[in-house]
Amino acid sequence: MAQIQESFVEESNAEKILAEAVKKSEEIEKDIAINPKKYKVLTGDRPTGRLHIGHYFGSLKNRVRLSKMGVPTMILIADYQVLTDHDAFESISQNTKQLVIDYLAAGIEVSDDVFIYPHSHVPEANQLMIPFLTLVSSAELDRNPTVKDEILKSGMKSVNAGMLTYPVHQAVDILFCKGNVVPVGKDQLPHLEVARLIAKRFNKKFSPEKPIFPEPHALLSKTPMILGLDGASKMSKSLGNTIMLCATEDETAKAIKKAKTDQERHITYEPETRPEVANLLRIISLCTGEEPQAIAERIGDGGGGMLKNTLTEVLNEELRPLRQKRAELEKDETYIKKVLNDGVFKARQIASKTLEEVRTAMNMNI
Ligand code: TRP
Repeated sequence: MAQIQESFVEESNAEKILAEAVKKSEEIEKDIAINPKKYKVLTGDRPTGRLHIGHYFGSLKNRVRLSKMGVPTMILIADYQVLTDHDAFESISQNTKQLVIDYLAAGIEVSDDVFIYPHSHVPEANQLMIPFLTLVSSAELDRNPTVKDEILKSGMKSVNAGMLTYPVHQAVDILFCKGNVVPVGKDQLPHLEVARLIAKRFNKKFSPEKPIFPEPHALLSKTPMILGLDGASKMSKSLGNTIMLCATEDETAKAIKKAKTDQERHITYEPETRPEVANLLRIISLCTGEEPQAIAERIGDGGGGMLKNTLTEVLNEELRPLRQKRAELEKDETYIKKVLNDGVFKARQIASKTLEEVRTAMNMNI
């Protein structure tokens, strides 16, 4: 254990980890278009509800792009992980289906190597949790900055063990299918660090001649963070500052009308001093591809009203096909269930193979 802790301390320098992740992410980005089959993308979301435009621009569009490039892409719905900080479990199944609808409406096309599944339905993968737990120390789990932050934010009085150990389960998510690229935001880097440590330690201890697990890396999103319509914090449903993908065009217009701007009439792009206006300009830019600066210049004396009208128009246009598809999918629960069942079937096939390899490496065959 002493050795394990040392290597973690050495690697736990957050800045160094971020710099390395950015570098690695850029290397992968360059290579992935040329060699899409060298990679296996694994991403996931907790089923907390329907998705909003922050998810759409920050991660969904990127997943669609990667899968269209021919990269095998597995999308998991973390319905076990969501139990760590959500008391409500009544709506998990419904939320899972809503996530699938959002993914498909955004352009994910399921195929032989692109699939969606809830991780609670893959028992063979979940078996890996037990040996993986023996490869990390409790001190390492205690130190995870993302987990610490979640504990603080949730205000929980006593920390359930699932909260401390879910990063190990996330390593299971990533490693059971030998995923080597994980498109995530910066907050997930500590979890990738855990997955890499477990992969390395497992290979070293149980299978030094023939490594079983690859070391997975983050693919960091290039999209600037979208703030909520309050312009103050990350877009998040619990803060009520979102535009949902499933909103109607009218609801979208109303939400944008209420968005916070500032006193100055003339529109300029100044992220430091005018974060609210800058945020709206950036969302327009994500829809049209035009630079925020240029959009600001064009609007100029048109002021906040014109800024909001422009945003409403381009955002509704960007989301129109998605929303149409969404409405159709919503009517077809049989198809949504089929997508999930097919995904579970594929995930279980992969997981069974990995579990067999793992048992052989650990001398557990009978
Ligand atoms: N922790 C992720 C989140 O909160 C969800 C997640 C679970 C995930 N398993 C994963 C992300 C595996 C990437 C890979 O958003």
